Amino acid sequence: MSILFTPFILRKIELKNRFVFSACEDNLATEDGLVTEAIIHKNRRLAKGEVGLIISSHLSVHLWGRTRKHQLGIYSDHMIPGLRRVVESVHGESGKIIFQLGHAGLSTTREVIGRPPMGPSAKDDQMNEDSIREVINAFGKAAERAAQAGADGIQLHAAHGYLINEFLSPFFNHRDDTWGGSEENRFRLIKEILIAVKAVLTREMVLLVKLNAHDHTPGEGVIPPLAVAYAKRLADLGIDGLEVSCGTSISPWNMCRGDIPVQEILRGVSEPRRAKVEESLERMKGRVNLEEGYNLAAAKMMRSMMGGTPLFAVGGWRNVRAMEEAVHRGDIDLIPLCRPLIREPSLVRNIREGKVDAASCISCNRCLIAVGRNIPVRCYYRGLPE
Ligand SMILES: Cc1cc2nc3c(=O)[nH]c(=O)nc-3n(C[C@H](O)[C@H](O)[C@H](O)COP(=O)(O)O)c2cc1C
Ligand code: SF4
Repeated sequence: MSILFTPFILRKIELKNRFVFSACEDNLATEDGLVTEAIIHKNRRLAKGEVGLIISSHLSVHLWGRTRKHQLGIYSDHMIPGLRRVVESVHGESGKIIFQLGHAGLSTTREVIGRPPMGPSAKDDQMNEDSIREVINAFGKAAERAAQAGADGIQLHAAHGYLINEFLSPFFNHRDDTWGGSEENRFRLIKEILIAVKAVLTREMVLLVKLNAHDHTPGEGVIPPLAVAYAKRLADLGIDGLEVSCGTSISPWNMCRGDIPVQEILRGVSEPRRAKVEESLERMKGRVNLEEGYNLAAAKMMRSMMGGTPLFAVGGWRNVRAMEEAVHRGDIDLIPLCRPLIREPSLVRNIREGKVDAASCISCNRCLIAVGRNIPVRCYYRGLPE
């Protein structure tokens, strides 16, 4: 039997195989951030497709931490019943689901949150002690709601240029108080959030973190040696697993390597800016081609520093053989997939049944463009709607 179909224990929950659906925003919530039937359907389909662990779409812990208008929220108690339905739909198919909790920080707009986006060193709204404490508290409350909804655990979103990543990154964080200026100070926000969420999670609930190994920002941000130091700190604080990723909203093509659908992006760009945008996208093309398991090298650097903490690296897994080899060598414990499971929610079952040995996702990145366009996320490989 393939090692990918051997069980794995995360804290106290047993996963039936090594496949994880990596978090995926879907623009399927109502404008008030509530669960819809489409969200229930999406998660049930993944569970029926035998994905060992589903990580939910990025849930906002605060009204001002929303990324987009149709992002799912976990910032109010009245959201719990809908979230509980999502959990039940997954558990009903013997799946497991963890909620990804995050705050957009600067990676949102005034139009979405009704005020200037906030960040560690934002020009319009540099966060002060009170607003930082409010965010820590919001993560704690959100974790409590995840427990009340019956989720199997939570994942802190500390990647992709959102608020926690911004505090960790010297590129975004220029503070010289206790929240910046040194590795220890930049780590303080996530540390305080971990303390807050640990206090409210049940004993069975899993606590994961998704961390950037490389921000790929124009100036130095999180880079692999710093990420290794952060990974060690997280392991020392007793997290139950780390997912390694990369890229921010400034560098989305590093996060999702593959093709860049230039012409479709240009459709949303105003005429005066079009030539410049086209030129820079064309320059980028070919430099971010898909590589199998493109965050694996960074994860391997972290392995020895993390004791036995489970580790997984997202990005670019397309061939079963490569996935098996990575787990077999002990480089990583689990295989996260995002785009392959957007395209084929039953991919894992098809692999188990021997019907396929590779994902059919062509990494065209049209689904990623759909996120920014505020249209429902699905596979658009034939082209996005006009
Ligand atoms: C449409 C789309 C939505 C995404 N939403 C999230 C998200 O909510 N949270 C997150 O951590 N990553 C998100 N990602 C990034 C993926 O989880 C993953 O890191 C990335 O797609 C690379 O993995 P892949 O090659 O398996 O797609 C998203 C990616 C795509 C394409
Ligand atoms: S649109 Fe479909 S084929 Fe293209 S990257 Fe997304 S899931 Fe893969």
